[in-house]
Amino acid sequence: MIEINKLSVVFRGGLTAIDCLDLTVPEKENTVIIGESGSGKSVLLAAILRILPASAQVSGELLLDGTDLLSLGEKEMNELRGTRLAYIPQGGGSSMNPLLTVGYQIAEPLMEKRAASRRTALSAAVDWMKRLNLGSEEKLAAAYPHTLSGGMRQRALIAMGAITGAPILLADEPTKGLDGERIETVTDLLRRLTDRTILCVSHDLRFARLVADKICVMYAAQAVEQCDSGAFFSEPLHPYSRMILEAMPENGLKADMGFAPPHSEAGRMGCRFYDRCPRRGAKCAQAPPMAEREGRKVRCWLYAD
Ligand SMILES: Nc1ncnc2c1ncn2[C@@H]1O[C@H](COP(=O)(O)OP(=O)(O)OP(=O)(O)O)[C@@H](O)[C@H]1O
Ligand SMILES: [Mg+2]
Repeated sequence: MIEINKLSVVFRGGLTAIDCLDLTVPEKENTVIIGESGSGKSVLLAAILRILPASAQVSGELLLDGTDLLSLGEKEMNELRGTRLAYIPQGGGSSMNPLLTVGYQIAEPLMEKRAASRRTALSAAVDWMKRLNLGSEEKLAAAYPHTLSGGMRQRALIAMGAITGAPILLADEPTKGLDGERIETVTDLLRRLTDRTILCVSHDLRFARLVADKICVMYAAQAVEQCDSGAFFSEPLHPYSRMILEAMPENGLKADMGFAPPHSEAGRMGCRFYDRCPRRGAKCAQAPPMAEREGRKVRCWLYAD
């Protein structure tokens, strides 16, 4: 289990990417973090993996089964990566080495982290490629990354992250850039990994609804709502959560609104959603507490008593 207490990440220059975040990621469940661009989702995953640049100042606690990851040395941390904690990065061109074959790159974590032989690892790589429906898997394993489409590369990264069987899987937008059928493949795969603890970032609410047991909504570096996925999709509480769900057409198109930083005094000092909130009141010029209601958490004055 991962327990995050009062985590803050401040970049040199003063930008606060994560502001005092508390989050529990329950064992063997899927937690999906949603929130618009720039809200701090990728920085959160990078903080857990301890792969932020030196310009990031991190404070708080990141407990993995009771051990604070922030207290570990680089060597200990590196031992955890791939064995206890695996990572599927936010896709894109630079995430694969152009000089190594696709199969070798997928197989590599298994050789490096689990001391598998090259033959065993390569055969496991082909199996994972099949699970992700990459097509002509044996042939593809011997090919180089430039022959892959963006969607194939995205799925290769998923195979690379999942192959060691690390019990905790952190995934950053695993369905980004995939078409409907491929999204379904990835959705099915993540749903089937029931023995893993998955913390996943996504813009895709339809995917989140299918995969998540728990939802965490981020807005402007803060968590603003945390609850069971069912409760979230049937009755979102935070006005921002309501807004993104209302913007989600029934056909499941992605809600991906650009992030607008607060511009008014109340938005800067009080609730960060102030300027966009249809339900704002006088109290909202002060920062709202994280209110608890029926096991749910909502950062909004409407629910604070
Ligand atoms: N290395 C860095 N140095 C300085 N600022 C950074 C760095 N990485 C991220 N940030 C800033 O931290 C904030 C949060 O970024 P983050 O990448 O976590 O957003 P995100 O929620 O993942 O967005 P997206 O949905 O677009 O991926 C942004 O304002 C971003 O510009
Ligand atoms: Mg991101």
